[in-house]
Amino acid sequence: MSEADRIFKPTADMIVKAGCIIRAGGLVAFPTETVYGLGADATSESAVASIFAAKERPSFNPLIVHVPDMETARKLVEFTEQGEKLAHAFWPGALTLVLPRKKDSGLSLLVSAGLDTVAIRMPNHPIATELLKASGKPIAAPSANRSGQISPTQAAHVAQSLPGKVDMILDGGPCAVGLESTVVDACGEHVGFLRPGGISVEKLEHVVGPLIFPDDAPDAPKSPGMLTSHYAPTLPMRLNATEIKDGEILLGFGADCENSTLNLSPSGNLNEAAANLFAMMRELDRDGFTRMAVSPIPQDGLGLAINDRLKRAAAPR
Ligand code: TXA
Ligand code: MG
Repeated sequence: MSEADRIFKPTADMIVKAGCIIRAGGLVAFPTETVYGLGADATSESAVASIFAAKERPSFNPLIVHVPDMETARKLVEFTEQGEKLAHAFWPGALTLVLPRKKDSGLSLLVSAGLDTVAIRMPNHPIATELLKASGKPIAAPSANRSGQISPTQAAHVAQSLPGKVDMILDGGPCAVGLESTVVDACGEHVGFLRPGGISVEKLEHVVGPLIFPDDAPDAPKSPGMLTSHYAPTLPMRLNATEIKDGEILLGFGADCENSTLNLSPSGNLNEAAANLFAMMRELDRDGFTRMAVSPIPQDGLGLAINDRLKRAAAPR
């Protein structure tokens, strides 16, 4: 099958099929009004891991969760007063709200890279909305390009940028906005500006008053990928551990790890390891131990992102 064959007209039948692919853990590229998204079931750790694998992202940036309506959004995040105002004014549309994640959201931990917040957006595109409804799942979707490349605004760009990596590409023609959504942190009383995009600062300030910019708060992390609030275990970490030392609890990887309390992937599968990483780090962060040791993780494929995350967790604090 040539790559062009993966691009489909979004007929009602095709959208039903695309919904099935999402439910089965596959990847569907779909149009939104901003850019094309690379979508997967946001409640499945392994489906979300496969997004990072397809994009060849060297780190786990938290992703945007897309919803078709407010009812779905309310099941996933806590709406603050400011979040409520912004959603009312700009949804559906090119605005992503970072809000506190609900304890029982059912969302993958990887989708928010271990944070207690979730970036959420209701896109303004009929095909995106129909796909969300057909799948019955919130859909995690970064822009549908390989890491480091330009965001796709046409179906053909997706096929060029991610050859052979996507189960289906839904063709909705060119994206109307052509620029990613604006991302704001709406967790607190004052809304923080995180990424410029389709909705202007002026429009946002008209609704919620002055925004807080990273420069106003020098301690605030500029790039969300570097967020200091990323889940870091209480236990110190020792990486590339080939044996277990006194007081340590071992997070293993691969076949020869009999002493590990948990194993990221006994078969040495990096996708499986990525899917397990955040949950297992939390689970092993127990009283009664002095350190968490982690087996070596190969530095290829998703191993890059896993090692990046582990290095940050192990960094001196
Ligand atoms: O227009 C868009 O936003 C497109 C379409 C497909 O919706 N999506 C997109 O996703 O651009 P992505 O993954 O390329 O960008 C997500 C942005 C990143 O800057 C990420 O760091 C930030 O949102 N983000 C996600 N979750 C966050 C969180 N919990 N806290 C802070 N920033 C977050
Ligand atoms: Mg992107």
